[in-house]
Amino acid sequence: MIMVDNLHKEYKRLVRKEGLFSGIRNLFNRDYETVEAVKALSFTINEGELVGYIGPNGAGKSTSIKMLTGILVPTRGQVLVNGIVPYHNRKQNASQIGVVFGQKSHLWWDVPVIESFKLLKHMYNISNRDFNTNLQLFDELLDLNTFINIPVRQLSLGQRMRSDIAAALLHNPKILFLDEPTIGLDVIAKEKLREFIKTINVEKKVTVLLTTHDMKDIEKLCSRMIIIDHGRIIYDGSVEEIRRQYGTTKTIVIEFENAVSDFAVPNAKLVKSTANKKWFQFNRLETSSTDLVSYIGSLYPVTDLSVEDQDIEEIVRMVYRGTDNSFLEASG
Ligand SMILES: Nc1ncnc2c1ncn2[C@@H]1O[C@H](COP(=O)(O)OP(=O)(O)OP(=O)(O)O)[C@@H](O)[C@H]1O
Ligand SMILES: [Mg+2]
Repeated sequence: MIMVDNLHKEYKRLVRKEGLFSGIRNLFNRDYETVEAVKALSFTINEGELVGYIGPNGAGKSTSIKMLTGILVPTRGQVLVNGIVPYHNRKQNASQIGVVFGQKSHLWWDVPVIESFKLLKHMYNISNRDFNTNLQLFDELLDLNTFINIPVRQLSLGQRMRSDIAAALLHNPKILFLDEPTIGLDVIAKEKLREFIKTINVEKKVTVLLTTHDMKDIEKLCSRMIIIDHGRIIYDGSVEEIRRQYGTTKTIVIEFENAVSDFAVPNAKLVKSTANKKWFQFNRLETSSTDLVSYIGSLYPVTDLSVEDQDIEEIVRMVYRGTDNSFLEASG
């Protein structure tokens, strides 16, 4: 369905010279530096897959999605989306894909959501029947009716994201590209959106490539993930495998009634500390948060606690290290 082979993308960026009259000097004597945003990227995604596409800031995720959607032309390498070269046949490609960039709405800012939908119906030649069926389904899943007559500009972020994702799917695309669709959403809105993505994937058989910084999105939705860093793939495989290898590390955050100086806890490592708050990293196969809390609680009065999973940046660091929580052994 999606085939990417040895894909590269370089950006040319103007290097600004500092100093007096630099503006004029920049105008006449332009120096460019090359940013290699994507380097030798290769992967294939089969029909019906829901793949997580993750990596730290600046890894090249959005750049790759822009090449897959035909917005950017690769510097070299091949891209095929359902048999089409996206940047050669942008229009044809657009009819078979849906795109959502979480950072930016594709809808018309000043018109009610429903008017944007009608414009899209016209642009994509969507039949009355498909349009109505989809609107009804999306309304059931996303409660669109509560805000469908409001201009996009006045929507909350969650409502805006729901409108955007519905808009991207009105023309029944086979493939959906989601670039950080859950960014900035609260827990409930995220959960709702995840359920929707899952339903679309299972019931409408839409192939999905999902970019996110929230590891929970991946764990709840994807069985496969591709991790990229500095424009290269550093992992392509099952989410389960990553969870097994790297997902056993958790962080317990404990708030104390009074200021407490740093102290050691068996089977855990102090990774961050303020006067009233300490962060301990632990491996849940070696110890449990309950054990840690009862140990720490016996030393100092605790007022609040939470347990956090690892973030994507930490997982990327661990993939590089290729070790399974060896830092915990070191800390003893
Ligand atoms: N239009 C551009 N001109 C020059 N450099 C760019 C441009 N767009 C992106 N870059 C650079 O290319 C690299 C990859 O950027 P990209 O937006 O693809 O990363 P990303 O993985 O989507 O990151 P994030 O998680 O922050 O969204 C970065 O170093 C970025 O600074
Ligand atoms: Mg991005």
